[in-house]
Amino acid sequence: MLSFVFLLGFGVSLEIGTQQSENHPTLSWQQCTSSGSCTSQSGSIVLDSNWRWVHDSGTTNCYDGNEWSSDLCPDPETCSKNCYLDGADYSGTYGITSNGSSLKLGFVTEGSYSTNIGSRVYLKKDTNTYQIFKLKNHEFTFTVDVSNLPCGLNGALYFVEMEADGGKGKYPLAKPGAQYGMGYCDAQCPHDMKFINGNANVLDWKPQETDENSGNGRYGTCCTEMDIWEANSQATAYTPHICTKDGQYQCEGTECGDSDANQRYNGVCDKDGCDFNSYRLGNKTFFGPGLIVDSKKPVTVVTQFITSNGQDSGDLTEIRRIYVQGGKTIQNSFTNIAGLTSVDSITEAFCDESKDLFGDTNDFKAKGGFTAMGKSLDTGVVLVLSLWDDHSVNMLWLDSTYPTDAAAGALGTQRGPCATSSGAPSDVESQSPDASVTFSDIKFGPLDSTY
Ligand SMILES: *[C@@H]1O[C@H](CO)[C@@H](O)[C@H](O)[C@H]1NC(C)=O
Ligand SMILES: *[C@@H]1O[C@H](CO)[C@@H](O)[C@H](O)[C@H]1NC(C)=O
Repeated sequence: MLSFVFLLGFGVSLEIGTQQSENHPTLSWQQCTSSGSCTSQSGSIVLDSNWRWVHDSGTTNCYDGNEWSSDLCPDPETCSKNCYLDGADYSGTYGITSNGSSLKLGFVTEGSYSTNIGSRVYLKKDTNTYQIFKLKNHEFTFTVDVSNLPCGLNGALYFVEMEADGGKGKYPLAKPGAQYGMGYCDAQCPHDMKFINGNANVLDWKPQETDENSGNGRYGTCCTEMDIWEANSQATAYTPHICTKDGQYQCEGTECGDSDANQRYNGVCDKDGCDFNSYRLGNKTFFGPGLIVDSKKPVTVVTQFITSNGQDSGDLTEIRRIYVQGGKTIQNSFTNIAGLTSVDSITEAFCDESKDLFGDTNDFKAKGGFTAMGKSLDTGVVLVLSLWDDHSVNMLWLDSTYPTDAAAGALGTQRGPCATSSGAPSDVESQSPDASVTFSDIKFGPLDSTY
């Protein structure tokens, strides 16, 4: 029997391929202490598995364009056992370069075999492990340059509750694990992941009509997500999103909360989140080119996770934002909308009030609110850096008027100054292929220790 299996070239799991060597770009960051001293940590980043070449024991594609090979991938497990996840040429294929404490993600990269759009990378502690952050009663700081990001793009920095080993320990099929960027999940329960819990997501796979690299399978991968920074040069928001399941969770059917099945609020995650976007909250002159926080220049972004008792063990009560630019500390803008208490941070009361006033479903509260977010932060979360364009709604939820058919002046619908016709991936990819985002000088420590 063994020789029969061997003849078919069957492995026992998804394996690491050796066609392309994998050299994780280094990215140093600083761990700070309450005394104000910071020490440099030698981290590195890894490209998500979804961007990688997946092939058989030779060089035949398991996944080509946006379709699975029917020979190599007749079912999830056989597919994983037949296939190899390969190394990445970070700069040549994906437009990812790092340099000391700075990381640049390019938008469109013409490689020798394919055209790559955007990327998603994770901060690692060592070869097989993602860096885990415990954010409660701490602050997370970084500098970002969004000057080269037009309407429709999103240079994002956020945390998700992935497994530190990329799922390798729990799911033997997921053998490449964190070393090859496996195990992603977020609060949108994405269906476009090629592998979830080590199994290929081949069942019901539908190539995405408008995206030649992507498709959607039966399963989604869900987990709590803390969006520290979603932005381009025109708009920015920070947003907690929670899920009712602990850790990474593979969803199927209603629990994925698919919008196109009208089940957005029936799933296990809060897809809307509770966002703080200065423009949406009444201050249109705070963030943007030449404004108070000037998106034409690098800006340092501080996010603080305040607890009820000033201890790491306390309940999460508030998520605060501070900016530093040109040596000046800039406090966050205050909300400025009639009917909304004037505040400059995210609290449970702010979420309740703003959702009520804007007529938004309060799924954040329904799924557990700050208590659920605090619990996830106690478990620890993984840092994600990405650059993407939006095949569902052209990023209008971030930088334009959305929903686009909202009554003129409807509260909470104006999120940024971009036109409702902007942000279509085909437009931004052809008009701004050289767009990029640069993240640098990541620092983590107790409150007020990093800036
Ligand atoms: C690397 O650092 C140098 C010096 O600070 C800078 O000029 C260059 O643009 C950086 N390159 C990248 C890719 O970040
Ligand atoms: C926007 O924020 C700035 C800085 O906090 C403030 O000076 C200005 O008055 C605010 N504008 C509005 C409309 O709230």
